[in-house]
Amino acid sequence: MKAPFFRLKEQHHHLMENIIKKIENVFETERFILGPLVEKFESRFASMMGVKHAIGVNSGTDALMLSLRLLDLQPENEVIIPVFSYISVAEVVLRVGATPVFVDVDPMTGLIDLSKVEAAVTENTRAVIPVHLYGKAVNMISLMEIARKHNLAVIEDCSHATGAQFHGRKLGTYGITGCFSFYPTMNLGGVGDGGMILTDHDEYAARLRKFREHGRIDNVYYDEIGYNSRLDAIQAAVLTVKMEELEDSNAEKIENARFYNKYFAEANAVLPEIQDDFSHVFNMYTLQVAQRDALEIYLKEKKIGCAIYYPLPLHLQPCFDFFEYKEGDFPQAEQLCKRVISLPVFPGLKRQEIQFVAQAVLDFLKA
Ligand SMILES: Cc1ncc(COP(=O)(O)O)c(C=O)c1O
Repeated sequence: MKAPFFRLKEQHHHLMENIIKKIENVFETERFILGPLVEKFESRFASMMGVKHAIGVNSGTDALMLSLRLLDLQPENEVIIPVFSYISVAEVVLRVGATPVFVDVDPMTGLIDLSKVEAAVTENTRAVIPVHLYGKAVNMISLMEIARKHNLAVIEDCSHATGAQFHGRKLGTYGITGCFSFYPTMNLGGVGDGGMILTDHDEYAARLRKFREHGRIDNVYYDEIGYNSRLDAIQAAVLTVKMEELEDSNAEKIENARFYNKYFAEANAVLPEIQDDFSHVFNMYTLQVAQRDALEIYLKEKKIGCAIYYPLPLHLQPCFDFFEYKEGDFPQAEQLCKRVISLPVFPGLKRQEIQFVAQAVLDFLKA
């Protein structure tokens, strides 16, 4: 027996007929970039989330970058981000010409530590990017309170958390924008790169639509420097079909996570918390264990897929050497990078497979 980390081919199998039909439709419209299918997908996505506007862009990274452009940041302006995260989150702040300010994370969840957010605010701080890491919601009520108090824009990174909620409200609807990635392995994944920005503000929506098309205002004029960041129609076609079962596939992942948690109840590991409110949708099921590197080797030997999100905190990435951070600056993130490991949790994972993975991990932890 073996267990892969993902099985995308099988995940798409029962949808294939529908997907092909929709793709044929794209060919008929002859609109391969933006166009009617993208508009339809945007409007369905917006209504699923309960916001006015959804703007399709070509990646989650661009969703964040275009959102930051709304703030007209200057080099001295600071944007607070979690130091335990994907590279994009820091990269985009620098690419719009502002300064990222790293803060440490909660040692149990890996989410941005809200007490440290407040401590990091200076007179130059303009925004904060909460990352709903692994699919788990940051406490958006507390964060919005901090943001109001210090007049900060909140840009939510929902790349791992499509369909997740906090206090009954969808993630991505608390901030000035909510940013989503449709990278193929995300809870709502396309068949290439893709992303989406949610916003309730009409002016922001108009400006974001402009940014994604080079700053174009009409057939003649471009009044701001923009990007080529448009969602393509084939992605929209596939995502429209897959969106129909997002809630079910998220529910299935939560069930898989629940199975693991029961199995590991007595084990020497930090487990993710599960509640009955979709506040964690388990884009990743991530444990913390002391002998992580040995566990990774052991699982690979047993042909069990696993992954490390993330092996190095942002402040220690060579591309940020110029900030002159050093080891020890963000101890919680540094610890997590040594302890986290994600197990297969995808929808369609068979019960025997989960049991096989869980038993292997348990045997390792007991040994
Ligand atoms: C937390 C987080 N933010 C942003 C992104 C960027 O998304 P994309 O790959 O669609 O640019 C990712 C991608 O993995 C991510 O994990």
